[in-house]
Amino acid sequence: MTLANRSLITTDDLSNAEMEALFSLADRMSHAMDEQLGLCRGKIMASLFFEPSTRTRLSFETAMHRLGGSVITAADVGATSLAKGESIADMAKVVGSYVDIIVIRHPWEGAAKVVADYAGVPVINAGDGGHQHPTQTLCDLYTIRKEKRTIRGLNIALWGDLKYGRTIHSLIFALAKFGANILFCPTPGLEVPQHIIEKLTTEYGGEIAREEALTPMVKDGLFPVDAIYVTPSRPHQLAMMPGVNIKVELKRGIDALYVTRPQKERFTAAEQREELTKKYRVVDKKLLKGKAFQETVVMHPLPRVDELAHELDADPRSKYFEQAAQGVPVRMALISLLLGVTQVSVPAEDTSRKVDYPLYQQAVGPKCPNPRCVSVQETEAKYLKPEFKIVNREPLTLRCNYCEHGFEPKYVASAEWHEGRTATKTYHPAASRWAKRIKPENLIAFHSAEEAEAHGFKPSRDVKALQEES
Ligand code: CP
Repeated sequence: MTLANRSLITTDDLSNAEMEALFSLADRMSHAMDEQLGLCRGKIMASLFFEPSTRTRLSFETAMHRLGGSVITAADVGATSLAKGESIADMAKVVGSYVDIIVIRHPWEGAAKVVADYAGVPVINAGDGGHQHPTQTLCDLYTIRKEKRTIRGLNIALWGDLKYGRTIHSLIFALAKFGANILFCPTPGLEVPQHIIEKLTTEYGGEIAREEALTPMVKDGLFPVDAIYVTPSRPHQLAMMPGVNIKVELKRGIDALYVTRPQKERFTAAEQREELTKKYRVVDKKLLKGKAFQETVVMHPLPRVDELAHELDADPRSKYFEQAAQGVPVRMALISLLLGVTQVSVPAEDTSRKVDYPLYQQAVGPKCPNPRCVSVQETEAKYLKPEFKIVNREPLTLRCNYCEHGFEPKYVASAEWHEGRTATKTYHPAASRWAKRIKPENLIAFHSAEEAEAHGFKPSRDVKALQEES
């Protein structure tokens, strides 16, 4: 099987078997660096980094050089024509006509998907805002696998900024795919976004335990855990005996602690004022002295700021510099596979768990409410049509195809009922019995009554009743 001409935008783009094959290839390449020099001769990689980077950019560029290919770089948006108002799609088409593969980092969530949609060559997401960073996840999984031999069944704790950390968001889904248990240890105010929790529990089959279930452990003073995702391969009595099960889980200890820095550059003005970084608990020798941490691998995607004590650098449990070094062989393997210069044998993917959601198909409809989404930026909204998956009907929930934020529109109408007959252009509360009867292909959604009425829809009796109540 070949991975040629594919793009990597989120961790969903590679199956477990494909990731395993990539890791085996990275192993082989790391043991024979000199032999890879001819693999990508004549190929060119564009390295477009519109946010700061040390590891991702330089390890990608090193990887391409080690494969014998060439690199062109733009590392400052101000030095490109994006600064003159050019769209991402136009840039992607042009750069795609120069090179064989594009690596892009961009502050807008979903920007890498737009590049992949327009470039005509494989595209690798090197971080799109707070959305995802799938190649960091490949390095993370590779490191865990090297240290622990497996990922399935491990207890992995995620620490710090779980709200804006894109490495965290990619890693959560990958750990769930590989069957790990995940302990969420956020700094207060920086918890995992609800849309990620919803995707995790609906699409990956595990269960989340919170609050009262965690009280015994928090009381034991072990760890500031907010919630635990328990993989489906673990016993399923969690809902019945939560405290007991979690204690059993934790007795085995923490297999890996993944620390992240506060992503201050993404904080809202209110979050800046709250000084969330002052609430950040530092991971140091004292924290890791307990029995539960004896075999813990300490990881960090880096850069570190103040959240991980330098005293841990010499501790044999610390693996964050090895994790960064794995970036070269892992990215060499990825580039060579997507360029089709290397083939791997991959068993067919088990697609039984895959959820195929209906798509929102109307020209009229809501914009993504995420202000960081690429689809709502002035230069991009001129040509990008908002795209959503209908991920739930009760409550009605749409998920943006670009940034993956989920939201619940307040009102709905049907394209079938009003077609050509404006008198019946009526909108309903999204939770009403009418709403549930609308076929997905006819569904029109609105954030507000004003939005529905601006499109010529009139309130239904249910809407009027609700408006009178409030
Ligand atoms: N881990 C990571 O993405 O590091 P850089 O921001 O330095 O690329």
